[in-house]
Amino acid sequence: MKVLFLNGPNLNLLGTREPEVYGQTTLADIEADVRKRASRFQVEVDFRQSNLEGDLVTWIQQAKGNVQAIVINAAAYTHTSVALRDAISAVAVPTIEIHLSNIHARETFRHKSLIAAVCIGQICGFGSKSYLLGLDAAIYVNESKK
Ligand code: DQA
Repeated sequence: MKVLFLNGPNLNLLGTREPEVYGQTTLADIEADVRKRASRFQVEVDFRQSNLEGDLVTWIQQAKGNVQAIVINAAAYTHTSVALRDAISAVAVPTIEIHLSNIHARETFRHKSLIAAVCIGQICGFGSKSYLLGLDAAIYVNESKK
């Protein structure tokens, strides 16, 4: 099984970016944790980050036929991007939405996710562990298809 992890804008700054909200773990640390857990389950991981919406759209399009699941922290694009929603909907690769923070407990503009309705489900509020829960969800969804 192969899982594509996608990370949106400003997540490259994790570790120094608002640590009181997002913690002190860097994206590289998170990737290492994800790879470690994935190897226990013989899962191959592709882990990417971009500050550009178009990159994320292109990577979602390319996922079709190449990965069994997508785990996405779309960051701020979660709340704004019809393009990401349409890409997820178009490729129909099972997709899990994740966030470090609990977006529902923050500013009202973060309560709405434009991608939630085209994802299998949403995991938020568990800090960097949201990524590991996202991996587990991807494995679960893939297993339940068999
Ligand atoms: C985030 C939450 C978003 O609202 C925010 O724009 C981010 C990070 C999270 O992981 O908690 O950049 O996706």
